[in-house]
Amino acid sequence: MNPVLETIHRRTSLRRYKDTPISDNDLQTILAATLRAPTAGNMMLYSVLVIKDQAVKETLSKTCDNQPFIAKAPLVLIFLADYQRWFDYYRLSEVQELKTPDVGDLFLAMDDAIIAAQTAVLAAESLGMGTCYIGDIMENYETHRELLGLPDYVFPAAMLTLGYYPDEYKPIFRDRFPSEYIVHDETYRHLGDEELKAMFSELEKGFSPNNKFGATNMGQFTYARKTGSSFAREMSRSIRAALENWQGRLS
Ligand SMILES: Cc1cc2nc3c(=O)[nH]c(=O)nc-3n(C[C@H](O)[C@H](O)[C@H](O)COP(=O)(O)O)c2cc1C
Repeated sequence: MNPVLETIHRRTSLRRYKDTPISDNDLQTILAATLRAPTAGNMMLYSVLVIKDQAVKETLSKTCDNQPFIAKAPLVLIFLADYQRWFDYYRLSEVQELKTPDVGDLFLAMDDAIIAAQTAVLAAESLGMGTCYIGDIMENYETHRELLGLPDYVFPAAMLTLGYYPDEYKPIFRDRFPSEYIVHDETYRHLGDEELKAMFSELEKGFSPNNKFGATNMGQFTYARKTGSSFAREMSRSIRAALENWQGRLS
């Protein structure tokens, strides 16, 4: 395997870090790689927040669905979908009949931010660091706006915790679904019931009937834990609140 593929295949989410700050040199290397990520129209519709402040990390560890390891990560990076810069520039340029950014602009900016985040993940991994995405940064929109000073046309798309691997760390490689169910030739292949059963058969081996949701199978369990959970409801509420700003109104 070449070094790039080796880095990709070596990565797993890391939630426990060596108690060593990230060196400035490594941080700058990660950021320089991040800024080379592809970006729609070369507009760089994203910003990156570098968070080292312990108090902010403590707050994020609570507002992001109470995940204490966030506060213990030496570094947190937040990738913001950012249309504010271009909107302000258009205004400054006296664009006539300027519309506020619309949902299409938000989705494009989300693409940009997430591609930048994954570029940072691989750069960090190549430097002996591990990372973990925190999807819950999309929750509590109002709180995160205030905490991070976000203007109207900026939305936190992704958050990463980063740190060097602890000594004697043994990665756990979580299984993926086989590619035959994920990769399709030319057009989408809607899986039939038998294929679905086959696809989930491996995952179902890990199902325990003794669970707090009273679920009697893996589908019910996953639905209760993810889709039906309070954090999923909060995420939808939070994103709806953010969407209030991204309606493409005439100013
Ligand atoms: C968008 C996104 C959000 C995630 N959010 C969290 C999170 O809030 N907390 C966490 O511990 N892991 C989170 N993860 C990590 C996933 O749980 C992890 O990638 C998945 O279980 C596969 O494991 P692996 O990354 O070790 O291969 C997230 C990953 C992604 C891509």
